[in-house]
Amino acid sequence: LDALEINLSCPNVDQGGLEFGVDPATAAAVITACRAVTDKPIYAKLSPNVTDIKPIAKAVEAAGAAGIVLINTVVGMSLDLNTRTPKLYRGTGGISGAAIHPIAVRFVYEARQAVKIPIIGVGGIDSIDDVLELMLAGADAVQVGHANAVDPQIMEKLIDQLPAALDKYGFETVRDVTHGLKKFPVSVAEWNEVQHD
Ligand SMILES: Cc1cc2nc3c(=O)[nH]c(=O)nc-3n(C[C@H](O)[C@H](O)[C@H](O)COP(=O)(O)O)c2cc1C
Repeated sequence: LDALEINLSCPNVDQGGLEFGVDPATAAAVITACRAVTDKPIYAKLSPNVTDIKPIAKAVEAAGAAGIVLINTVVGMSLDLNTRTPKLYRGTGGISGAAIHPIAVRFVYEARQAVKIPIIGVGGIDSIDDVLELMLAGADAVQVGHANAVDPQIMEKLIDQLPAALDKYGFETVRDVTHGLKKFPVSVAEWNEVQHD
């Protein structure tokens, strides 16, 4: 075991999961307590179910986290029209996959503005473009969750596709992606000159 990832953000337990990660003081207290009992690097897995990630990211950095992992699942709800009951046991619960990818990009970008420690981006990665997008937002590395359940070979495929994708988008190394986001906002006139997909 080379490092520990502390999940401060699980929305699928009755108490003591999500609550730790949505407040800077409690998030920092957990990291401080873990820091006291291990010399191994500690990564703080944070929640997107907050208004502002920056104070929480700063608090865990100050408490000694070696890095941040963003995002855990987004709290959602889904109802079964036939049975008129929630599809998830607690009614609400964590949503993963493609629907949350833009939320992950946003949170990685905002945390990147707040901290210097590495960020591992996670959320809705289905393709190599999703990987590069999270890294362009400021992630140093990525994790893949839900897509492994759809295709158990997804990790090998993404690693195989990485060199060609770097070439396609004009990056020399993976590190260049993390630091490659162009400055914005620009004027509306400049914005309109760029062809956006
Ligand atoms: C079935 C399932 C179980 C999960 N269990 C955990 C967990 O135990 N700890 C944790 O930090 N995140 C857990 N997650 C969240 C994922 O690690 C990840 O942050 C989230 O699903 C977003 O990534 P994805 O869209 O690639 O799945 C779980 C997600 C799913 C779908």
